[in-house]
Amino acid sequence: MSVKIIGAGKALPEKKVLNNELPQELETSDEWIRSHTGIGSRYVCGEGENSATLGTKAALQALLAAQAEGSSVKAEDIDLIVCSTATAKNWSFPSNACLIQKGVGASKAAVFDLSAACSGFIYSLQVGRSMLNQMNWRYALIVGSEMLSKIVNWSDRSSCILFGDGAGAVVLERTEGGNDAFGSFVLGADGTGADVLYLDPDDLKLRMDGHAVYSFAVGKMVEIIQTVMEKDKLTMDDVDLFVCHQANERIIRAAAKRLNYPMEKFPVLLEEYANTSSASIPISLVDLAERGILKHGMKILLAGFGAGLTWGGCSLTW
Ligand code: UT7
Repeated sequence: MSVKIIGAGKALPEKKVLNNELPQELETSDEWIRSHTGIGSRYVCGEGENSATLGTKAALQALLAAQAEGSSVKAEDIDLIVCSTATAKNWSFPSNACLIQKGVGASKAAVFDLSAACSGFIYSLQVGRSMLNQMNWRYALIVGSEMLSKIVNWSDRSSCILFGDGAGAVVLERTEGGNDAFGSFVLGADGTGADVLYLDPDDLKLRMDGHAVYSFAVGKMVEIIQTVMEKDKLTMDDVDLFVCHQANERIIRAAAKRLNYPMEKFPVLLEEYANTSSASIPISLVDLAERGILKHGMKILLAGFGAGLTWGGCSLTW
């Protein structure tokens, strides 16, 4: 049995906010934000937009993309929807996955949200893949959808400048024969780091120790990449692209440098989207495919980290 991605889609809010359009009271600057993070802008939800509407749009795009590639999949064929989110429209229930199911018309699907912060999309890929295999299902929609603008503390310039809203989705298909597109997964967590990055239950705002996240992130990205490559017996030359969680360009550069791998293999998409948490990897995949950088047949490695602390990585053939 094999599982592969047969379509991918993304959705962003209509409104894009450039660094120099951020509130004056923050006393920040385009220069500071670019030089410390690589971020140039972020998309921010407006009236009528939220993580469920974005997730629905991304899921519909992913289905259209699968059909454009020749698949006969329809919304009614979807067996499973897993939505990774830290910012579900209704916070807890109904899940974003239920709202996406309704929006897409995936009437027979089993659906739920998964909470693993920025690592959530990679966790969800493996959960979706495992469930397709265990349940003898054929199609799954894996969505990462976030509205970070509703949880950032807009008076904390060291964190609010980092985040943006958006969603990305892929359609997985399981077939009886053929090669599995996925290689090994690495998934992990360290709950002792729970207070480094968290949603404060009192005001539902994000709190972060930026330095602690930064040093955890660089070391963990290196470890994830090395572990997946060892497990799958890959060398640097075997991997076309390392698609990393987009949190800070400096984190990606530092990891590439420690690995002694060329930055050309580490796409950075922070300039446009900022950090969209669990949506950052699927948005990156779609953006790179649209620009012709990510092509069919390429071997890629995904690596992410986030609040929890959590982390995940995997290799796959696109
Ligand atoms: O998905 C995971 C999400 N979280 C992360 O990825 C966070 C990882 N950490 C980071 O990306 C970085 O630590 C930050 C971008 C958050 C901060 O960068 P930094 O280079 O570690 O800056 P810093 O915290 O050491 O601050 C340096 C200076 C401070 O001023 P003083 O004390 O030197 O006078 C800050 O007050 O920069 C100041 N500062 C700012 N200035 C202008 C902090 N934020 C800003 C800002 N604009 N937005």
